[in-house]
Amino acid sequence: ESIKVFAPASVSNVGPGFDILGFALEGMGDVLTLTKTDAESFEIEAVGAELPLDPDKNVATVALKSFCKAINYDGGFHLKIEKNFTPGSGLGSSASSAVASVFAASQLLKTGHSKKELIHYALDGEQVASGNRHADNIAPCMLGGFVAVQQTDPYLGFGLSFPANLKALIIFPDIPIKTFEARAILPKALPIGTGIKQAANMAGLVHGLASADFDLIKDSLHDYFAQPYRKTLISGYDEVKRKCLEFGAYGFNLSGSGPTMFAFFKEDAVLDELKTVIAEMYAVIGKEVKFHESKIN
Ligand code: HSE
Repeated sequence: ESIKVFAPASVSNVGPGFDILGFALEGMGDVLTLTKTDAESFEIEAVGAELPLDPDKNVATVALKSFCKAINYDGGFHLKIEKNFTPGSGLGSSASSAVASVFAASQLLKTGHSKKELIHYALDGEQVASGNRHADNIAPCMLGGFVAVQQTDPYLGFGLSFPANLKALIIFPDIPIKTFEARAILPKALPIGTGIKQAANMAGLVHGLASADFDLIKDSLHDYFAQPYRKTLISGYDEVKRKCLEFGAYGFNLSGSGPTMFAFFKEDAVLDELKTVIAEMYAVIGKEVKFHESKIN
């Protein structure tokens, strides 16, 4: 018995929404085929990326083990994980794997859990990958759309309205960044004035999205918590941002902990020239860059 599921990549933080906001992408994500086996163990087959094959280190199996323990299921599984994007890119790769495995198991074993209930087990996988139980990739990956996380565990959150013609340009330079390192460089405390600016931008962004006010989205997409520290890890960040804004972007920021960056555009924007300019900028420093254009899934 077997099931095949897709769990999308996602952009988290989304400017001022550090650990709170995230949206799911089209056309990128994990395809997981989960098969029940007679063994009492988990076997992992990775396609398209090098992933840990030890079930105690692989995000998908850590999440799956936690779920199986909760439902008292002691059978084995074979997991074929097909990845069509790079782990460690800031696009919620660990979340995709964790969500895919617990959702697939719940469907296959007909446990009747809601997607919201499954978030708890997927977070156990995220914890192993990044050392922290943030749900801003897990929740949009599991639920789809643009999501705000009010409380992580147990999960409380809601979907946000957003303009139907909003698309994101995903810009992924080949610069290795580990989420736990990108969290470790953040200050442990921030001045209250910084918190106020961040909260004001959150209000602006949520209202801008709901009312399709693209200029308000653009003005609100600044992050005072993480981006000022993390951008130092990403060569070319300021230049890429400047170029995107020159080409008419409605805001720009890091995707999750980077190195991927994203810029918002209207659906009909033609971005070939912008992509060429950015690729040339990175070629000068010997880095490859990949792009993906996506609506919110
Ligand atoms: N909110 C998380 C962070 C996302 O910025 O650290 C990365 O997985």
